[in-house]
Amino acid sequence: MSFLEMVKSRCSVRGYTGRKVEPEKLEKILSAAHAAPTAANLQPVRLIVVQEQEGLDKLGTAANIYGAPLAIIVCSRPARAWTRPLDGKNTSDIDASILTDHMMLEATELGLGTLWICHFKPDIIRREFALPQGLEPVNILAVGYASGAPASPDRHSTQRIPIASLVSFEMYSPGE
Ligand SMILES: Cc1cc2nc3c(=O)[nH]c(=O)nc-3n(C[C@H](O)[C@H](O)[C@H](O)COP(=O)(O)O)c2cc1C
Repeated sequence: MSFLEMVKSRCSVRGYTGRKVEPEKLEKILSAAHAAPTAANLQPVRLIVVQEQEGLDKLGTAANIYGAPLAIIVCSRPARAWTRPLDGKNTSDIDASILTDHMMLEATELGLGTLWICHFKPDIIRREFALPQGLEPVNILAVGYASGAPASPDRHSTQRIPIASLVSFEMYSPGE
């Protein structure tokens, strides 16, 4: 499967079997995170892997993880991230999201389903997972074996805006 085919085969999974994610697969997912770039290589991101039932239950009080047997809380520290001097734009969330995307696609390649989750209660995550001051939860990536049929890899022609609206060349154009 080409990279593009793999990317198109990924879909948000909101139902998981009880099958655990094998340790060697988790290791590859974490390696993908480790290889991800961050602005100025400042690496402000920290990951919390949750796979024990107690942790998954705690996570369930902060977010719907749809019964996934594994979730990775992606945290980042804005004070350690690069800030663009001209306008103060901080890349903490961008760095965290690049790691999240790397992990999501590696998991896809390994035959796993994933769900990227931002709808969570940050205060509960901070408290239950002992995040130190300044370390912010940015994303949760739920991972496991999908229980339902995968979404069609051809769905993007109807479920995304047209490429002509997404992209303009040489100069911004509002497109279609
Ligand atoms: C930044 C981000 C945050 C998201 N947060 C949630 C979430 O909290 N809960 C959820 O069910 N899906 C969440 N999603 C999944 C999106 O709804 C989903 O990716 C989108 O509808 C496209 O569907 P697809 O992933 O199947 O292609 C999130 C996705 C992204 C990229």
